[in-house]
Amino acid sequence: MHKITVNLGMRSYKIIVGRNITGQLGKVLKRLNIGSDAFIITNNFLKNKYGAKLAQSLSAAGINFIFKTVLDSEKSKSIETASIVIKDVAKFDRKKKVFIIAFGGGVIGDLAGFVASVYKRGTNYIQVPTTLLAQVDSAIGGKTALDLASGKNLVGAFYQPRLVFSDVEFLKTLDNKQLGSGMAEVIKYAVIKDAKLFTYLETRHKALSSGSAHALMEIIGSCSRIKALITSKDEKESLGLRTILNFGHTIGHAIEAAGGYKRYNHGQAVGLGMIAAVNLSAVLGLIDRKVSERVKDLIELYGLPVKLKNVPLDKIIKAHYYDKKFSGKENKLVLISAIGQAKIVRNVRLDLIKQAVNSIV
Ligand SMILES: NC(=O)c1ccc[n+]([C@@H]2O[C@H](COP(=O)([O-])OP(=O)(O)OC[C@H]3O[C@@H](n4cnc5c(N)ncnc54)[C@H](O)[C@@H]3O)[C@@H](O)[C@H]2O)c1
Ligand SMILES: [Zn+2]
Repeated sequence: MHKITVNLGMRSYKIIVGRNITGQLGKVLKRLNIGSDAFIITNNFLKNKYGAKLAQSLSAAGINFIFKTVLDSEKSKSIETASIVIKDVAKFDRKKKVFIIAFGGGVIGDLAGFVASVYKRGTNYIQVPTTLLAQVDSAIGGKTALDLASGKNLVGAFYQPRLVFSDVEFLKTLDNKQLGSGMAEVIKYAVIKDAKLFTYLETRHKALSSGSAHALMEIIGSCSRIKALITSKDEKESLGLRTILNFGHTIGHAIEAAGGYKRYNHGQAVGLGMIAAVNLSAVLGLIDRKVSERVKDLIELYGLPVKLKNVPLDKIIKAHYYDKKFSGKENKLVLISAIGQAKIVRNVRLDLIKQAVNSIV
């Protein structure tokens, strides 16, 4: 079991990563003393598959609970769904000491976090992430979010959970697409901050792709440590330290958008974005070609695409201007100077960015 602390003074919390640990969640919550009545936000699949285990663990610790299921889609990150959920929390809350459990992937985590941030001006909540992406990324750091028709994640607040409880057992039912999405973020952490993790991913591919719980715990532990460290130092993204977590995302988001959010999913697009970013790092002389090839090879090893198909270059370039890392005409890209060493570079020439995107076609 890995235990990691996100150090934020009074708002500090633990991340627990383990195998088959859901039976212990009730006990852990009892010790945390954050409430006696759990409002669990989840979806039907997760409730049917894992709900009984969770329920048993809470019951054994004397915690009262109710399940609230939402639709299994990004559409659940809406003001409409949040409004329904908040009213249900209020119904459940009468004469109780309620806290919220986000039991699901990033969609449920973002929605539940938002509900917790506004109900009674802030209610305790914990994250029980069930996707690889949520365990290594979205459940940590306190970014809560809803989408608007005009854009993703436009509504939300920074609001920290009281605990992140990652049981790798849940990952057994993820399909390859969902695993690939998470792996892209895992590779991202390795490339920007952890050369050891990078080598581990290279050498332990077989174990990881066969779902070894030990290997999964290792990589989730490593990524959680990195995200905990960065978000401890720059909780609200005001110091720019969190920026490096956007590695591969500027071009990645542009690829997602230019493909109409259909051609490539987030993880695939980030994989391609990371290859463009390391190629650009090589063009700028920050790294040797061998290093960029090594990154590309790792991305390929985990089944993510390494060649961009059927998305026109000019559409990607146009879309990348909308990235939030652009202010006015100045751009700011996360590149690398070695494996495990991110570097923020400003005002990169457009022709070089084009060349980097072209290098993945
Ligand atoms: N808050 C943050 O810091 C942050 C960071 C990154 C991404 N996000 C958000 O996270 C969301 C994406 O998260 P995601 O990739 O986890 O997607 P998701 O929550 O939509 O989950 C993907 C799919 O996996 C299913 N699923 C979940 N757990 C499962 C399990 N154990 N077994 C089988 N199926 C399971 C879900 O029902 C869903 O169909 C996006 O909305 C994104 O904006 C937030
Ligand atoms: Zn991402």
